[in-house]
Amino acid sequence: MSHIIAPSILSSDFANLQKESEMLDKSQADWFHIDVMDGVFVPNLTFGMPVIKAIRKYSDKVFDVHLMIENPDKFIKDFKNSGADILTVHYEACTHLHRTIQSIKNEGMKAGVALNPHTNINVLEDIIKDLDLVLIMSVNPGFGGQSFIENTYSKIKKLKELILKTNSHALIEIDGGVTDKNARQLIDCGADALVAGSFVFNSNNPSQTIENLKNI
Ligand code: DX5
Ligand code: ZN
Repeated sequence: MSHIIAPSILSSDFANLQKESEMLDKSQADWFHIDVMDGVFVPNLTFGMPVIKAIRKYSDKVFDVHLMIENPDKFIKDFKNSGADILTVHYEACTHLHRTIQSIKNEGMKAGVALNPHTNINVLEDIIKDLDLVLIMSVNPGFGGQSFIENTYSKIKKLKELILKTNSHALIEIDGGVTDKNARQLIDCGADALVAGSFVFNSNNPSQTIENLKNI
């Protein structure tokens, strides 16, 4: 399987979300990466269900929703109803992670867990077999346009070992500071999906940039 490219709409033009969504739909992007922030778990606010529902009209591609919020359990059904296909919660925000993952699956979505840069892969040992996706944060969550944290490479290798050892089917997604400079190495270490926000949307030709990342 070729790697998955998931442009993050966080860096898109919010005044033209229809146009941006149509561009992504026509591009070689595999997934829409959608960053939901609550101003509590992370020091920033973005958008929630109504915006996801609004852009759902413009594409049938996979909606990969990354929740950077406290108490995600409260909204699992709402995110399903707004059009999420994959729902990823933060390990650091979930006291009863196993229950949260089961609730996401019970709603018919794929379930992911995100790890902050300081969180060790080991914490997933007892849940990895239940996961469809692990998102490794390669910046501290909250903002687009930050620099990539180099320690990510060794985390990917460690996670890949855990996945192979346990026969888990979880995909590895990398989020933060992804560019054409680190994409190849991330894939070689074991990444299956790459999120790219500012690198795509700040480029002169986002659709071409997506194609370049896809063919890297
Ligand atoms: C950060 C978000 C990322 C962000 C990535 O908290 O989770 O998805 O949009 O943006 P870049 O690619 O600019 O680092
Ligand atoms: Zn994200």
